[in-house]
Amino acid sequence: MSDHAARSIFLIGMMGSGKSTVARLLANGIGFEWIDADRELEQRSGTCVANIFELEGESAFRQRESQLLRELTQRPGIVLATGGGAILDSGNRELLRSRGLVIYLQANADEIARRTRSDLTRPLLQVQDRRARIAELLEQRAALYKQTAHLTVRSGAANPRRLVAKLAAHPQVLAVVGARSLN
Ligand code: S3P
Repeated sequence: MSDHAARSIFLIGMMGSGKSTVARLLANGIGFEWIDADRELEQRSGTCVANIFELEGESAFRQRESQLLRELTQRPGIVLATGGGAILDSGNRELLRSRGLVIYLQANADEIARRTRSDLTRPLLQVQDRRARIAELLEQRAALYKQTAHLTVRSGAANPRRLVAKLAAHPQVLAVVGARSLN
């Protein structure tokens, strides 16, 4: 799908890169609906992500995540905050790239470590050396984020409102808003 045909915006990036905040603010700014994939999955499952990891394991969580993405990526007029690991699956990457404008919120390991410092909800970060785990995940994922994204923006140290103002005026975002209003 060319960017001009995209009818929704999908945010990708590491945990703590600001996807949920940016999704909410950007959606408000452009008149789209905001959806957080993890929160949606939790509502549907009736339990939290940490519990799903603990009770069913990561691969079961990934299956649920893929199933949900197949559905959500078909909706027009949304800004979707995906889970940080959504790009690990090649099918998910293909879905995201072909069905919407994909924006990578890029942050470095120090920024992510700072922003997730007191987090108790993300199972992958409940380790002794959180900074090392984040660096390891970034190393595994950075290329996947970049290859999935149509647009990469630095998010780590950015003020979310300023970042969103920049995004809302970006030609590729404006093209999605324009395409949506034609439908
Ligand atoms: C994950 C990120 C989380 C959540 C789960 C796994 C990951 O989402 O899906 O804990 O693998 O990076 P956020 O990026 O919204 O924290």
